[in-house]
This record gives sequence, C-alpha cells and structure tokens, in this order.
Amino acid sequence: MNISRAKGTKDIFFDDMKIWEYVEENIKEICLKHNMNQIRTPIFEDTSLFSRSVGDETDIVNKEMYTFLDKGNRSITLRPELTAGVVRAYIENGFSSMPTPMKLWYIGTMYRYEKMQKGRYREFSQFGIEVLGSDSYLADIEVISVAYELFKKLGLLDKIALKINSIGCSECRTKYINELKEYLADKIDNMCDDCKTRYIKNPMRIIDCKQDKCKTAKQNLPMITDYLCDDCSKDFESLKQTLVDVGIEYEIDKTIVRGLDYYNKTVFEFISKDLDLAVGGGGRYDTLVEVLGGTHTPAIGFGLGMDRIILLLKECNLVPDKKQVDIYFTVMNSNIFPKVYNLINNLRDLGYIVDIDICSRSFNAQMKYAGKINCRYICVIGEDELKENLCSLKNMNTSNQVKVGMTAEEIHNILEGGN
Ligand code: HAM
Repeated sequence: MNISRAKGTKDIFFDDMKIWEYVEENIKEICLKHNMNQIRTPIFEDTSLFSRSVGDETDIVNKEMYTFLDKGNRSITLRPELTAGVVRAYIENGFSSMPTPMKLWYIGTMYRYEKMQKGRYREFSQFGIEVLGSDSYLADIEVISVAYELFKKLGLLDKIALKINSIGCSECRTKYINELKEYLADKIDNMCDDCKTRYIKNPMRIIDCKQDKCKTAKQNLPMITDYLCDDCSKDFESLKQTLVDVGIEYEIDKTIVRGLDYYNKTVFEFISKDLDLAVGGGGRYDTLVEVLGGTHTPAIGFGLGMDRIILLLKECNLVPDKKQVDIYFTVMNSNIFPKVYNLINNLRDLGYIVDIDICSRSFNAQMKYAGKINCRYICVIGEDELKENLCSLKNMNTSNQVKVGMTAEEIHNILEGGN
C-alpha cells in the first residue's frame, strides 16, 4: 500500500515554493527595517503552556490540539500557535532584563486538528510578531504597520480589510459580561449547545458564534465598546486617530473578540474578501507574561496565516515572475567537465543561475533537456568549440548564436548585452 501524507498536511514544491520564498524574503526585509529580531521556539511544548495561555475553554485547547504522552510520561502538545511559546521563551531566557521593548518575529508551522477546507489545514504556517514591554497604543501602531507594509509590498492592500475592536481590560469586561449575561438570560435556552456552555464559562465567545439559531438572539446584543473604562476608551480613540494619521485604513468591527483567552484591549483581524477568511489576527495580551510566571509585561502581536496569504496571491495572480535558468551548458565530451565546471562556478559567483548535465547523457539528450527547462541561453561546447577553446552561446529567445572565449567575463558581457 502506498503511504500518503497525513490528512490536513501538504507538500510545498516547485512554483509554490518560489512564492513561499518570495513572501518570506519580504517578511525578513520588513522585519529588519522595523528593527525586529527573529526567534525560533520548539515545535512541541509542555501541554499546560497552552491550556494556561490560550485557555482551557477555547476550541483550540478543547478540540484541536495534537497532544500525546512522550516516553517519559510527559504531556506534550504540538504548538497550535506561537505566542505562548514566545512568552515562555521570554520568561525562561530572562529577556525582561534586556532593553525594552523586545520586538520579535517568527515564521513556523503550527498544528490544529481542524475540519479541513480551503485555506484551513491541520499543519499550517504563521508569520507572527510579538512586541513585549510597551503598554502604549504606539506599539499597536508599530505592530499593525508591519502587516500593512507586508500587504503593500505583496500588492494585497486592496484585497484585505483591517478590522479592529477593543475588548477592554478586566475592569471593563466584568461590567460588560454582567450586562451580556443579563441580556441573554431569557434567550440562551434557544441557542446552540456551544453557546450554552460559553454562557457559563466564557460568555464573550458567544459574540462570534456563527450558528443561525444564535443570530436572532444576538440582534441587539450589548457591545463591549460601550462599556470601556476611561483609560481603555482613551487608548482606543488614540489608536484609531493615529491609524488615520499614518494612513492605515481600518474598519471597526464590534464582533471581534478573538478565539484565544489571553487578549485584552486592542484586538484586530485581517480579512480577505476573496477568500472569505481571516488571513491574520492579533491583539494585546498585557497579562500573559504574568499568567505564565513572569513579571508584568504588557505586549501585543499578531499571526498571519502564510498558507492563506499564498493562496490569495495565487488567486489574485500576484505571484512573482518565475526565475529562469540563465545558462544551461551542454558538453560534448565529459573529459572537460572539470574545466567547464570551474567556468560554471565563476558564473554562479557572478550571480547567474547556471546548470549542466550531471547524468552523463548524450549530447542530443542534453540539447533536448535544455529545450524543456526554459533557459535563457544554452552554452554549447562541442568538437569545434573544443578545438578553438571557445563556446557557442545561443539566445533561446532570439535564436542568435555567438562564439565567445570560455571565460566568465566574456559570457557575462554577452548576457549583459542581451545578444
Ligand atoms: P489565530 O487567529 O488563531 O491567532 O491565527 C492567526 C492566523 O493563522 C489566522 O488568521 C489564519 O490566517 C491562520 N490560521 C489559523 N488556523 C489555521 C488553519 N487551520 N489553517 C490555515 N491557517 C490558519 C493566533 O494564532 C495568535 N497566536 C496570533 C497572535 C500573535 N496574537 C498575538 N500575537
């Protein structure tokens, strides 16, 4: 029986891989310009890290984690997200004694046992940033601006809507949750089973329930933004005004409460209209460092779904041009391979993509192969060329053919001239 890949995973290769590399290169460049440091944390962590941070009552922890006992009987979980791991690393490595704020970024795979559909996988990647050590709305601006710059660079700005909300601090939420429960008290019996549990354990999560039977009950739901304390309200106003001032478009979406428990105050999502999916989400988590055993450290970050960004780039035909092989060498006599190989490496040092037959194929077979790989030039070194110590460069676009000396400089001059 053939072994196939596990459900919800995928292989990434050839043209798709080029798109991934293109997105990753842009991410690296943008993060560098924002003075951020890359962090890599383990793919698996102690299970309690996620139950304590993401929250026991969330779908992620309750239904979607890949959890197992290792041979030492420890409960281990494949990370379903990376904020918790970064915060653990922040505490464990004493980052709080380093200059503040700490601006970190990562790209990595995550694991969630979810129902498969377009853009939803069981192994997926996120590009994320976490900024720890600032409680100012200016940090919110810096974080959102990283995603904004990426979407701009990828040509996706008009394809993605930034939706923001504030879910306040614990003080605002206590007041709000009382009001919310009171409003829902005579409606909850007609709502879905999940909402009935949420009503008891985490009432705010009722807000983003998509079930039809719950929609009617939620029509005039009180909204958290009407219950913000003075500080939270002031910060949210400053954030909105500054987003306008720095030219970042946004919409207010009072239904965004996020599916992870650690958030407070600013929360946001990046929604793709074409995919009808969130390509990213994030927000403040000012108490998480303390919850996990560190000192009080306000923080904010986001995670963007790499798989979804790549899907969107493909659907919108915004993929980078394919990189062509610049020169394919076809060689009559394999005795001269070392000489030609040195020439090839000199050309590679000049930045060209150069390839040569490594299957000891016949000259004809090499020519046939060269025709298939869509290269810019073929460099032929046959009997005549060998005698003259020259090589023939054929431009595959124009079919022009010239003989030049077997040096990187001479070949480079021809390619530069576009002959
Ligand atoms: P999240 O909203 O759970 O947030 O995930 C962020 C993004 O990851 C989503 O918007 C989506 O694009 C992508 N994503 C999630 N699940 C899947 C899936 N099954 N398949 C493909 N893509 C998926 C977090 O994970 C937070 N840690 C973000 C954060 C960082 N908040 C603060 N800092």
